[in-house]
Amino acid sequence: MNLKNQRLLTGQSFINGQFINANKQKTFSVTNPYDGKHIIDVADCSASETQSAITKANEAFVSWRQLTGTERSTILRRWFELQMENIDDLAMILTVEQGKPLAEAKGEIRYGASFVEWFAEEAKRAYGDTIPGHQRDKRIVVIKQPIGVVAAITPWNFPSAMITRKVAPALAAGCTVVIKPSELTPLSANALAVLAQDAGFPSGVLNIVNTSTPEKVGKELTANPTVRKLSFTGSTEVGKILLRQCSDTVKKVSLELGGNAPFIVFDDADINEAVEGAIAAKYRNAGQTCVCANRMFVQDGIYEEFTQRFTKAVQQLIIGSGLEKGVVIGPLIEEKAVQSIEFVVADAIDKGANLLTGGNRKDKDSLFFQPTVLTDVTPDMKVFIQEIFGPVAPIFKFETDEVVIALANDTPYGLAAYFYGRDYARIWRVAEALEYGMVGINTGMLSTPVAPFGGIKESGFGREGSKYGMDDYLDMKYLCWGGI
Ligand code: SIN
Repeated sequence: MNLKNQRLLTGQSFINGQFINANKQKTFSVTNPYDGKHIIDVADCSASETQSAITKANEAFVSWRQLTGTERSTILRRWFELQMENIDDLAMILTVEQGKPLAEAKGEIRYGASFVEWFAEEAKRAYGDTIPGHQRDKRIVVIKQPIGVVAAITPWNFPSAMITRKVAPALAAGCTVVIKPSELTPLSANALAVLAQDAGFPSGVLNIVNTSTPEKVGKELTANPTVRKLSFTGSTEVGKILLRQCSDTVKKVSLELGGNAPFIVFDDADINEAVEGAIAAKYRNAGQTCVCANRMFVQDGIYEEFTQRFTKAVQQLIIGSGLEKGVVIGPLIEEKAVQSIEFVVADAIDKGANLLTGGNRKDKDSLFFQPTVLTDVTPDMKVFIQEIFGPVAPIFKFETDEVVIALANDTPYGLAAYFYGRDYARIWRVAEALEYGMVGINTGMLSTPVAPFGGIKESGFGREGSKYGMDDYLDMKYLCWGGI
C-alpha cells in the first residue's frame, strides 16, 4: 500500500505507549475484501496481553484523571488535527481493509475525527449540579467523575469512526481505554494509535489489543473487575452475551446494537428528495450500517412512481473496487455476509417477492452483491424480520398511517427510523409514535457528533455524541454537606 506516511500501516498492537508483538510472536492475516489478497500480518493477542493492557490502563488512570479538562482537551485536539492531516492515508487504509469506496472512507475519517474535535471541547464541560438542601443545615452538590478503565469493542463496518466515537468521550471524561477492534479491520485502529502516540497521550491512556480470538479477549474485558465500563457496537446477539458477561462485575455498559430501520414515504412526500434519501439510507457502505434503511414502506398513491424512480437510481449505482473513481458500492466484508444476503433474497423470492433489479452476487467467488430492489414483500419474509446488512431494498405498499406505524414498530429493534412527508401534524404524530432512538424526517442521513446516537429496545442503550455522550463515561456522586 502506497502511503505518504508509511508508519501508519502497522500490524503491531499498542499497549502502554509501545507497539508490540503478541506473545510467542503469534499473528493473524488481514486481507482485502476486494480481491482477497493478504495485506499484512497483525499481532494476535490473547487474554494475557489483554490483562496487561488493562493493568497499564489502570495505572495511567491515576494521573490522566487528575489533568484538567483543558489539559486533556489539548491532546485530544492534537489527535483530531493529526487525523485530518493524514486523512488520505487513513482513508486508503480503511478502503483496503474494509472495502468501502475511497470517498466514503474519507467521509468516515472526517466523521470519526469530528467526535474527537467535539469531545476535546466537551472535556471542559463535565458539569455537576447544586441542589437546594432538604434540611436547613444541609447543602447538596453533585459532581461527575471518570468511571475508570473503559473497554471498547468495535465493529468492522466503521473501523475508524466507531473507535473515536467511544474513545474520545471516554478520554475527555478522564477515563483510560483498552480497545478491541474487529479482527477483520484492525489496521485503521492501529493507524489511530500511531497518531495518538504522536499527539502525546501519556503511556497506557489508550491501548489496542488485536486478536483473532475475540471471544477470549472479550471474556477478559468483561470479566476483569478493573474494567469499569464496556462500550460495544455490533450485533444484538453478541451484545446480549457481553451484557451477561458484564453482570458478574456489575459494569456500566453501553450497547449500540442491530437495527431494522423502517423508511416510510407518505403520499405528500417530495419524491425526488425521498428517492435521494432512500439511496443514501439504504446503500451507504453497501448496506452495511446499523442505521441502514432495512424495510421501505411506500404509500399507495405514490408507490408506482417512487418504486420506478428508485429502481432506476439503484441501477445507476456503480459497483467495483473502492479505489476506482466513480464506484459507490464496494464488496461486502466477507463470504459469510454474501451468503447471508443470498439467503434472505432467495427466501423473499420463494415467498412471492418480485425482483425488480439485482438479486445476485456480481461474479462467482467475488464478495460483490448487486444492488437489489424487491417489491410485493410481506412481513413473513426474512427481509422484514431481520437486519439485512447488505444492498437489498424490500419495498412494501401501505394505505394508512395507523397500519404503517404498526408495521414499522413490529420488530424487537429500535435504532433508527426515517420518513418523508410534508403534513406537519402527521410529522409530529408519526415521529412520536415510532419506537426508535433516532428518527430522520425528510432526510436519510442522521449521523453527526452533535446529536445523541443510540437506540432503544433490543438495539441497545447509551448515547454516543452530543452533550449527553460524556455521561456514559462519568459516575455521578452527590455530596451531602451537613452542620452548616
Ligand atoms: C453504525 O452502523 O453502527 C454506525 C453508523 C453511523 O454512525 O452512521
